[in-house]
Amino acid sequence: MSEDLSTLRQEIENTPLDAEEAIDAFRIRFLSRKQGVVTALMKRIPEIAPEDRKAYGQDVNALKQRVEERLEGAQQALASGPSAGGGRIDVTLPGRPVPEGSLHPLTETMDLIVHVFTSYGFQIAEGTEVEDDWHNFTALNFPDDHPARDMQDTFFIEEGKTLLRTHTSPVQIRVMKSQEPPVRVIVPGRVYRNEAISYKSYCLFHQVEGLYVDKDVTMADLKQILHAFARTLFGHDVRMRFRPSFFPFTEPSAEVDIWWQDPDLPGGGRWLEILGCGMVDPNVLEAVNVDPEVYTGYAFGMGVERIAMLRYGIDDIRTLYENDVRFLKQFTS
Ligand code: DAH
Repeated sequence: MSEDLSTLRQEIENTPLDAEEAIDAFRIRFLSRKQGVVTALMKRIPEIAPEDRKAYGQDVNALKQRVEERLEGAQQALASGPSAGGGRIDVTLPGRPVPEGSLHPLTETMDLIVHVFTSYGFQIAEGTEVEDDWHNFTALNFPDDHPARDMQDTFFIEEGKTLLRTHTSPVQIRVMKSQEPPVRVIVPGRVYRNEAISYKSYCLFHQVEGLYVDKDVTMADLKQILHAFARTLFGHDVRMRFRPSFFPFTEPSAEVDIWWQDPDLPGGGRWLEILGCGMVDPNVLEAVNVDPEVYTGYAFGMGVERIAMLRYGIDDIRTLYENDVRFLKQFTS
């Protein structure tokens, strides 16, 4: 091999080919049709003296082959290499952050509530969000002139007939119609009310309803399960109280409050209502052909937003529906 050719050979072997631009420049320098160095050497073959031609041709061909091999190798390394810029990895670069998702605080709270009750043997039941007046009101012992039946509180689809359910209680009726006692269900779901939207009320929200109907179910059973529930959600030393109340579908009825400690308040805290409950009214059992002389039951219902707001210290219900990532990111665990 002549001296010229061996210098070229060295250049071919030693040119770094670690980036797209370098590879292109290399191809042009050696193989371009017009000014490629190896192309020019090939073109000269016919001019070489016949006795030297064979050896020269072989040398030039070998060079061409090396150029092609290096090009191919470099292309492959680039395509499979870890970084597009070349075959080398800078191990000192910080990693790219992977965006982390999280459960919405409502989902998290709902899941936790459902978990407490399913672990006590409750089954999950679901009804429909579009409900009829009978399931939503009549069968639940609402008198005809009850204010909740008013257009102002209820989104009617057809007035007096179909509506968006205002609570999850109609699922009590649906379950008892389709299943004989014993019945023990928990009903998570979405409900709708025609209310002015503000920091404390929204036109839709979530409830979890509970129903247990069997022989000899008593208010003591109700207190026991709700106490277990409150301890799981608000801590083992939670203080709770049952306050007499009224709901058309339970008798007696109660509201449950928990003591919310807050050193800024006079008295060091205050009672906050978390749910409504009671013993299933005999009229409700009769509406679904369950004999109230044989069976008794308890029911309870709670607003999930309210409980989530208490747990997380959220003071405006609307933030739960705005999908603002700055808000939601705070719940990434
Ligand atoms: N349905 C009631 C509401 O939306 C909540 C409720 C209260 C449900 C007492 C119950 C219950 O099952 O026993 O305000």
